[in-house]
Amino acid sequence: MSTPPSALEPNKLAEIATAEASRHEIKGLRKPFGEPWGHEYWGKWQTITFALNALGIPEGATILDVGVGVGWTTLFLAESGYRATGVDIAPATIEIAVARAERMGVQAEFVVADMDTLELKRRFDAILVFDALHHTTRQATVLNRIANHLAPSGWVLFGEPSWLHSMSPAARRTTKNLGWVERGVTIRSLKSDCAASDLGNFRRFYEGTSPYYSPRSFAWQLARLIGARVTCAPQMSVWLAAQAL
Ligand SMILES: C[S@@+](CC[C@H](N)C(=O)[O-])C[C@H]1O[C@@H](n2cnc3c(N)ncnc32)[C@H](O)[C@@H]1O
Repeated sequence: MSTPPSALEPNKLAEIATAEASRHEIKGLRKPFGEPWGHEYWGKWQTITFALNALGIPEGATILDVGVGVGWTTLFLAESGYRATGVDIAPATIEIAVARAERMGVQAEFVVADMDTLELKRRFDAILVFDALHHTTRQATVLNRIANHLAPSGWVLFGEPSWLHSMSPAARRTTKNLGWVERGVTIRSLKSDCAASDLGNFRRFYEGTSPYYSPRSFAWQLARLIGARVTCAPQMSVWLAAQAL
């Protein structure tokens, strides 16, 4: 990590401390990737793998996974045939990710790094930023760092909570109790910060809905789907891909 922890902002120190404190609570070696492992993960993975295929990222491509937590996306990417590297600011989560990779015999690299000051001194064919960008107050800086790690014509795929997230009671509780930054991400700000770092040729992707079992739950899923396609993506991630120009 290029910035020593002592020089980090309070919200980042809070992220590191939370991971450290929950290190022993995480049932890190449970199948398949530890808990929680709900149905919603499969919807996210389905979207990621669909988008990577649609963007034409071939098997064997190098992929940097930013803000990986305990590493499930990196491990899935590696198992899908990509050469995957995961980074996270919290050493405890990276430690668990490494243990999971070893347990499962998955070839993936994990590095402790701050996305705001990312400097891995190499470029990747593609970059995934899933559920992490909304924890930084320096979105434009992070996008500049990402652009600096993309190979020519490489793609970055973002999957982040929409602007509704900043208003959600759960996000507010997390900020109050844990000190994390919990922003929402708008497509407009993402596009304009991407453009400032020479990322463009935007493509949007949309998550499918969760399973449903009754007319009422069908109506809720329909509302979510329509919401995602309009603007606010209630309980879904907004997905945007941008290419190095
Ligand atoms: C909501 S978790 C998502 C983790 C993972 N993408 C997943 O789907 O399980 C957000 C992650 O971003 C990491 N993070 C927050 N700020 C970061 C920063 N400045 N640089 C790198 N990682 C960061 C946190 O440590 C945390 O693991």
